[in-house]
Amino acid sequence: MTLLIATRNHHKLDEIRQIFALPSLRLIAADELPGLPDDVVEDADTFEGNALKKARELCAASGLWTLADDSGLEVAALDNAPGVFSARYAGEPCDYAANNAKLLRALDGVTDRRARFRCVIALCAPDGRAWTVDGRCEGRIITETRGENGFGYDPLFVPDGSDKTFSELDSAVKNTLSHRGHALRNAADAWRAWLTPHA
Ligand code: IMP
Repeated sequence: MTLLIATRNHHKLDEIRQIFALPSLRLIAADELPGLPDDVVEDADTFEGNALKKARELCAASGLWTLADDSGLEVAALDNAPGVFSARYAGEPCDYAANNAKLLRALDGVTDRRARFRCVIALCAPDGRAWTVDGRCEGRIITETRGENGFGYDPLFVPDGSDKTFSELDSAVKNTLSHRGHALRNAADAWRAWLTPHA
C-alpha cells in the first residue's frame, strides 16, 4: 500500500520515514508526486484543524491514503504562543533564525521558561474518512541558541530530563523524545492494521 506524506519539509520527512517504517507500506512525499497543490493554506486555529485540512486536500488531489502533520511550540509565559503561528512567528516567509530571535526577545527577563512542542497527525482515506492522534514534548526555552542539528526552535528547546537542546541531540535521540516521535508512534499503533492490511 502507498501512503502519501503531505509535507515538503525534508526534516519532517526524515523523521517520519525513520519512525513510520511499517512492513509493506510505501511512503511517498508530496514532492515526488507531480500535479499536487503547492502549499495548503494553514488557516485553522488548532493543530488538529490544520493537520486535517492538509491531509484532506492532498488526499482528494492524489486519491491516495494521506498522512499530514501540524506542529508547533507553546510557551507557558506567552499564553501558549506562538502555537499554530510557530512557522510564521516573525512573519512570512518562515525564517527559523528570525523566529528564534523574536522568541528570545519575548522571553527577555522572564523566569518561567516552560514550553512544549505539540504535534497532531491526521490520516485521510480516499473515501473521505479521517482520524487524528497527537503527541507532545514538555521542556523549557533557554536564553541563547545551542547546537547544529534539527530545525525551527530546536536550538532553544531543552526537553525535560535532558540538559541538551534538540539541536545538540542526534536525530535518533530526538525522535525518542519529540512530540512528532510520540505522535507518529501513536499513529503507527492506532492505524497499523489499516495501513498494512496484508502484512
Ligand atoms: P508546521 O507543522 O510545518 O506548520 O510547523 C510549524 C513550525 O513549528 C515549524 O516551522 C517550526 O518552527 C516549529 N516546529 C515544529 N516541530 C518542530 C521541531 O521538531 N523542532 C523545532 N521546531 C519545530
